Amino acid sequence: MRHGLTAFGILLFVGLGSPAHAGDPALGEELHQENCVSCHGTEVYTRDDRMVESMSSLITQVNRCNVNLGTGWFDDEVEAVAAYLGENYYNF
Ligand code: HEC
Repeated sequence: MRHGLTAFGILLFVGLGSPAHAGDPALGEELHQENCVSCHGTEVYTRDDRMVESMSSLITQVNRCNVNLGTGWFDDEVEAVAAYLGENYYNF
């Protein structure tokens, strides 16, 4: 019983601590320009058969590229880039 309550408390804490849309698009633009334009241009974000169709999958995909590249971004940097791409290309 105690154990279950503790787990719930931790979930609640993590949930409140990481709002999904808190990224700063200006920071995201800078980070994107520095790290993300070597393989694909911005055309992959707007092509007809693009993979990403929601803000949560955009965050997942940005993080996947972040991990693959070894950029070592923190969550707020990943969210900043997702916010920038979401605002300028995906238009969710
Ligand atoms: C090492 C090469 C490489 C770099 C650098 C790279 N990507 Fe990618 N990215 C890919 C490939 C490959 C795909 C898949 C493209 C495809 O399916 O045609 C992709 C796809 C994506 C997509 C999904 C596009 C869609 O279809 O909706 C996003 C978003 C994305 N990358 C973001 C980023 C971000 C953010 C960065 C900078 C951290 C980045 N990429 C840097 C290789 C790269």
